[in-house]
Amino acid sequence: MPSTSISTGSAAGPAPCLAVSGASGKTGWRVVEEALGRGYRVKALLRPGSEVPEGLQGAELIRLELTDQAALERALEGTVALVIATGARPSVDLAGPLKVDALAIRQQCAACRAAGVKRVVLVSSLCSGRWFHPLNLFGLILVWKRVGERWLEASGLDWTVVRPGGLKETEDDLDAQGIRYSGPDQQESNSIPRRLVARVCLEALDAPASIGRIIEVTSAAGVEPLSLEQWLARQPQPA
Ligand SMILES: NC(=O)c1ccc[n+]([C@@H]2O[C@H](COP(=O)([O-])OP(=O)(O)OC[C@H]3O[C@@H](n4cnc5c(N)ncnc54)[C@H](OP(=O)(O)O)[C@@H]3O)[C@@H](O)[C@H]2O)c1
Repeated sequence: MPSTSISTGSAAGPAPCLAVSGASGKTGWRVVEEALGRGYRVKALLRPGSEVPEGLQGAELIRLELTDQAALERALEGTVALVIATGARPSVDLAGPLKVDALAIRQQCAACRAAGVKRVVLVSSLCSGRWFHPLNLFGLILVWKRVGERWLEASGLDWTVVRPGGLKETEDDLDAQGIRYSGPDQQESNSIPRRLVARVCLEALDAPASIGRIIEVTSAAGVEPLSLEQWLARQPQPA
């Protein structure tokens, strides 16, 4: 079991650099913002045509297609980890989930290996892997998400999969929300603000015990407020 965490707390040397793909997305820009707030330098990976949300101020913006392997490898060079917040946007292109939620994960894993980036956190979804689910009307998205997860799991990288419930835009009363963490296929409904998902991704980078785990997250008022690290400390070690 790898034991490294990525700390930004050291006074020695420059701040570590984190890459975030899907940085123009509503979870992605929050991951960037949270990372900047914790002292990382951030490379925000965007498509050539992506709109730039305000939350990316202070990050280095790198525009590329994820299918451009050479550009992706160059972008990842010098980074300590990648947070993947890409996801097919609803569209008439029913091949979107295959391309973005499966193939693009494999491309990002390959680029990480080539660039020497060992640590990856993937934002996936509750119910990943389910065949019978209404969300699959959009290009079997939950099936392709599981394929993407499995490619990451088999990549040889130090991976964590974060599976959130329904994503909410609210930034209100976040401190009143406790996060309900679980292992895979334990939760199938409920929601969580994107800001809390972003924080879990950053906490995972600092928690070696999250490596090699699928972690499902939803939130609600009244749930015991636990950090990811506290929840992980209560879990049996994976075999
Ligand atoms: N919506 C929910 O309730 C929900 C629930 C659970 C899990 N999730 C998953 O959580 C993740 C984040 O969701 P979100 O709603 O925050 O995301 P989002 O706002 O829809 O953003 C998606 C991101 O992926 C990028 N992207 C889409 N197609 C791409 C492609 N072909 N190549 C490169 N980048 C591409 C988008 O870039 P552009 O800006 O250029 O389009 C954007 O940055 C996704 O994987 C989503 O499936 C969502």
